[in-house]
Amino acid sequence: MKYREFSNLGWKVSEIGLGCWQIGWCWGDVSDFDARKILQKALDKGINFFDTSDTYGDGRSEKFLSEIIKSSSEKIYVTTKLGRRIRGTKYSKGYKHEPMEEFIDRSLLNLGVDQIDLVQMHCPPIEVCRNKETYEKMEELIKKGKIANYGISVYNLAEAYEAIKLSNIKSVQLVFNIFRQKPSETFFAEAKKKNIAIIARGPLASGLLGGEISENTKFPENDHRNYNIHGKSFDVGDTFSGVNLKKGLCAVEELKKIIPKNFSLSEIALKWILMHKEVTVVIPGAINHSQVEKNANVSELSEIFYLMPKIKSIYEKFIKSDVHEKW
Ligand SMILES: NC(=O)c1ccc[n+]([C@@H]2O[C@H](COP(=O)([O-])OP(=O)(O)OC[C@H]3O[C@@H](n4cnc5c(N)ncnc54)[C@H](OP(=O)(O)O)[C@@H]3O)[C@@H](O)[C@H]2O)c1
Repeated sequence: MKYREFSNLGWKVSEIGLGCWQIGWCWGDVSDFDARKILQKALDKGINFFDTSDTYGDGRSEKFLSEIIKSSSEKIYVTTKLGRRIRGTKYSKGYKHEPMEEFIDRSLLNLGVDQIDLVQMHCPPIEVCRNKETYEKMEELIKKGKIANYGISVYNLAEAYEAIKLSNIKSVQLVFNIFRQKPSETFFAEAKKKNIAIIARGPLASGLLGGEISENTKFPENDHRNYNIHGKSFDVGDTFSGVNLKKGLCAVEELKKIIPKNFSLSEIALKWILMHKEVTVVIPGAINHSQVEKNANVSELSEIFYLMPKIKSIYEKFIKSDVHEKW
């Protein structure tokens, strides 16, 4: 496993981290047994960066993480998120001081720690990103010692640009993958100037870039790839990265034609992200420990400079017109 510097914090984080949404909910049934095996495999493979949220399983994911925080002999970095426990029309209220502090208090309990390494605001609406007060509240939580640092997770680049203008954030989390290439155009350079870490989520476009999904795949009722395909529950950009499934599958077929024999599509998809040096950590999610192992091994694979132009042209032919300006 290779490690990268995280902002100016002196942290060396594994370039492949672990997304822990799957051990909360929304991905079919991942049992307690499998959740623990996923985390153990991640530790065994040298992963030391774990992304979760207070909403994933309403705390279930955080509680599993508390077990490895307690048992791990090495330092591990756990980042959780806040703001989304208030739903519907009151959504932006989740970023006012009172609920924020209450949310943090529950996360501290769930994670079993006195201070959280990094808390990300969980996709706040753009008005919240523009509001100086939002960040003043985060600073207050730092002063109280409840959190050590804060960052932001965003749906759209516009929100990320607002947040890096006004705040002292240490990280931006966004969707970045072969089907979502826009952040690399100008945003990464802006973030780098300010030494802001980039956390790349949805690296496999919800599994579409794993290469095993077909038009006939049936997703369980409690899998967002079943119920959020039109964005009914949350931003559709987090389900298959907002790509139309049929078009995405056509692009996947084209990608399969260009990958060398010794690589699988999931490996190429993760390596493609790691080729961008501004990215600090990629956080693929997994529903079993074998996926964790395969994804972690990508750190050691050779670079794929020669494939970059071909991948770009497949993106431009099949995907760009539908997603590039939306997010
Ligand atoms: N708003 C936010 O802040 C936000 C939103 C979304 C996600 N996230 C974070 O980002 C993390 C990752 O994003 P994501 O979970 O949305 O999507 P992702 O990492 O692109 O896709 C994960 C899914 O891909 C499949 N997969 C994993 N490894 C594979 C492999 N080697 N080969 C084939 N398929 C594989 C698995 O599902 P199947 O095997 O069932 O296909 C897995 O559940 C999440 O866990 C979460 O921590 C944050």
